[in-house]
Amino acid sequence: MKIEAKSSLPTVIQGGMGIGVSSSRMARAVSLTGQLGVVSGTAVDAVMTRRLQDGDPSGEIRRVLKQFPDQKCVTEVLSRYFIEGGKAEHASYLDTPKPSLTPSQFASQLVVLANFVEVALAKEGNSGLIGVNFLEKIQLATPASIFGAMIANVDYILMGAGIPSDIPQLIRDLLAEEKIHFKIKVEGADHPSLLIFDPHIIDGVDYESLKKPFFIAIVSSHILANYLARDEETKPDGFVIEGPTAGGHNAPPRSKESVGSDGQSVFGEKDQADLSKVAALGLPFWLAGGYGTPEKVKQAISLGATGVQVGSLFALTTESGITENLRNEVLSRVQSGTLEVRTEPHASSTGFPFKVIEINGTASEDSVYQGRTRQCDLGYLRIPYKRPDDGIGYRCSGEPTRTFVFKGGDIDATKDVRCLCNALMANIGFGQVRWGTYSEPALLTLGSDFSGIEELHAIHNHFWTSSEVVEYLLR
Ligand SMILES: Cc1cc2nc3c(=O)[nH]c(=O)nc-3n(C[C@H](O)[C@H](O)[C@H](O)COP(=O)(O)O)c2cc1C
Repeated sequence: MKIEAKSSLPTVIQGGMGIGVSSSRMARAVSLTGQLGVVSGTAVDAVMTRRLQDGDPSGEIRRVLKQFPDQKCVTEVLSRYFIEGGKAEHASYLDTPKPSLTPSQFASQLVVLANFVEVALAKEGNSGLIGVNFLEKIQLATPASIFGAMIANVDYILMGAGIPSDIPQLIRDLLAEEKIHFKIKVEGADHPSLLIFDPHIIDGVDYESLKKPFFIAIVSSHILANYLARDEETKPDGFVIEGPTAGGHNAPPRSKESVGSDGQSVFGEKDQADLSKVAALGLPFWLAGGYGTPEKVKQAISLGATGVQVGSLFALTTESGITENLRNEVLSRVQSGTLEVRTEPHASSTGFPFKVIEINGTASEDSVYQGRTRQCDLGYLRIPYKRPDDGIGYRCSGEPTRTFVFKGGDIDATKDVRCLCNALMANIGFGQVRWGTYSEPALLTLGSDFSGIEELHAIHNHFWTSSEVVEYLLR
């Protein structure tokens, strides 16, 4: 195992944005500026296989796959998903296996491979730092995902949306070439179940050359930071402290009166981390959520932070995975001063509030969402639960209502929920085509502090690049 000294820590972390918003192109562009570029590792198996079914027009996936140690796996994946010239426009994409406690060997190999591809592409011709972002809630994909990123020599692993206490040990075990027994929460069960992941399903890995990535836990409170830092087993190498204006998912409000009269999540004093307590832990930390201006970068550093993690400014760059049409729509709203973001308490089946931009024609409109047939064919947010017969089932409040209720789910949870898996794939141009007739609607997210966006828009008048964001932040 190679141990690499982290000579210098980045001031700017480009936040990981799923699904596919923080693309390898974006992460690479940021990394080339000397800051930390981060790819999203969420659902990258679906992203990669859909790109292959679109014919991998740039050829980059097939190019980088030539470096993957296990070429038998590569051949299998290409033979199942690659379509020369791309699928017919109205044909549906083939499904990828849903994450589960007992994945097939192929399903695990596919996840390893897809994470390898994202990181390897971001690192192509680039000696800068690259990170990968995961959501703790998507536990079932975690061991294979982290392993794939490590094979591609990832420098940082960042994880939010949960309490990532098992990740430092998981990284140590992977480095030691051990079979992983990863604890998975099962709703209604007294004990977690174990997901077995054997890294030897990938041949040809040179364990000597694997390096230990820097692990950053993304949390919202000093209490959680303290909990993770006090035990060597769970201690990360640093923290991102993310406040409630951040794009994507937010930590649930701590107050009981957490939904306001306008139906949005309400955050208060209790939701602000005590930064002096975070600083006292002695680990590097970065601040996120409305830290996307040069003034806020200076403020973060004056508060003891190493720097900032910024998402929204990067989500609108030319390297963003979000389709140009949707980015144009957002920018025209910025221009007219009509951009609105709501913090929806129930839009995500994770139970975490989720920021939603209101744009006509997207699933932010009830009528658009209701016009869609409920389906759960991607399944990343399915939760394992204990069935009455003691077996384990999987459910998601975004799946067909009757199915969810049949599985013991609470009907109230199905009401305002959106199918984030399908919507977020649509945001990046990989929306599933249903029965040759309609495509899944998109659903955009951004942070609710627009100061940096407005200023960059005033400077550039149109889109900007990721390196321009870094230049602006470090002005
Ligand atoms: C489009 C979008 C998608 C995001 N997806 C993720 C994600 O998958 N995982 C994560 O940890 N954070 C996610 N975030 C949060 C960002 O990584 C970052 O912490 C946050 O955007 C910082 O706040 P800001 O938007 O005010 O800059 C997302 C943010 C945006 C705007």
